[in-house]
Amino acid sequence: TINRERFRPAYHHTPAWGWMNDPNGMFYKDGVWHLYFQYNPYGSQWENMTWAHSTSRDLMHWTFEGKAIEPDALGTIFSGSAVVDKEGTAGFGKNAVVAYYTSAGEAQTQSMAYSTDNGHTFTKYAANPVLTSDIPDFRDPHIIWHEPTKSWILIVSEKQHMKIFSSKNLKDWAFESDFGEGYGCHEGVWECPDLMQLPVAAGSRTASGANAAPTADSKWLLICNINPGGPFGGSATQYFTGTFDGHRFVCEDDPAETKWMDYGKDHYATVTFDNAPDGRHVALPWMSNWQYANQVPTRQFRSANGLPRDLGLFIYQGKTYCSVKPSPEVFRHFQPQASGRLTAACRIDVQLRGDAVITLSNGKGEHVTMTYDAKAETFAMDRTRSGATDFSNEFAAVTTAPTRGKVKTLLLFVDHSSLEAFDAEGKMAMSNLVFPSLPYDKITVKGGKAKIYPTL
Ligand code: FRU
Repeated sequence: TINRERFRPAYHHTPAWGWMNDPNGMFYKDGVWHLYFQYNPYGSQWENMTWAHSTSRDLMHWTFEGKAIEPDALGTIFSGSAVVDKEGTAGFGKNAVVAYYTSAGEAQTQSMAYSTDNGHTFTKYAANPVLTSDIPDFRDPHIIWHEPTKSWILIVSEKQHMKIFSSKNLKDWAFESDFGEGYGCHEGVWECPDLMQLPVAAGSRTASGANAAPTADSKWLLICNINPGGPFGGSATQYFTGTFDGHRFVCEDDPAETKWMDYGKDHYATVTFDNAPDGRHVALPWMSNWQYANQVPTRQFRSANGLPRDLGLFIYQGKTYCSVKPSPEVFRHFQPQASGRLTAACRIDVQLRGDAVITLSNGKGEHVTMTYDAKAETFAMDRTRSGATDFSNEFAAVTTAPTRGKVKTLLLFVDHSSLEAFDAEGKMAMSNLVFPSLPYDKITVKGGKAKIYPTL
């Protein structure tokens, strides 16, 4: 159980103590969601990178399981992924969990560890490291199963590119291709990739209707976290859409356009769970930014994850974008009846008719102002007077998102020190931290109607 400290979220995953950054090695197996994460067991700033482990049956209540993979002679344990090896292709038995991570020592190399007890304990592979490079920034391997070629695919970032490898046994990897030159944002280092095939929502060929059932169409999404270079400074998640044939990712995007998955300042290192049920692609962000992550005014712990989000694709004005919706499990965490009272941990649904201004405030005059401009199709969040901002010059900010069509229902999730905004149809997401000295207890809405739902 977690002590109720100031700023500790009530319904977001946090480490019980110590520092956390990227989510790592996430997979679903036998009804349990497994989350590993970059962890410092000995302090609440970035250091001593270790994989720690938490588990959940509903993506909302998490049990801290302790350290899972610890530093060794090859280095500390940086980010990576895990897969459920159902057929035992790696030779560790059927349903072994195989993890790849970056060994961060003198060089950054990719290493393997496997678990035959559902991810509770890992054995490091004797022949580590498995992949090496001459480039110093070489990290964050992510593995997927590619059914058409019956191969494992590993995508790993190398400075400002992504390298793609394939394997039949999760041990011997053949280099396939390189992606990145000339596409998207290159103002920082590319980190934490992911690659997946997603359905394109039906009806999304028109400007509205992104909420419809999937069509037979699908495309590939390549996630590329980048730091710095985000739209409001520091860390952010860009993505690319196109095709992938098991060998090469071919990007369909206009090379001059950068697509962002979330338009807040606190959404980074976002990747998805392996083996999620029902063909779902569930993403989990680290809800912070390298500009100030080590300075945020929490004490015993630092950093939370953003809410889990189900990813999809929709088309707006002829271009394909990633849709981001809070996972169904998130909604089940709130009472079905609206209470009308703004609390430190609640969900707010706002029905919009057109332009709107929504303000959350407390008795100290601290406030967050959100503005929806229906004609410009933008949504903005101003946290410049949200509470404590002086721990970093980079924190006070106004973030603005394109809404790619009209927003009818805006979903807001307030949880002590964060505010996440979503278009209910999935066309806009914005995640921002806030540190009010007292919880916001007053809401005003101009141009819309709000309903507030307490947590269960
Ligand atoms: C991203 C990152 C990764 C790296 C890890 C180290 O936030 O920099 O590239 O593996 O954090 O903790």
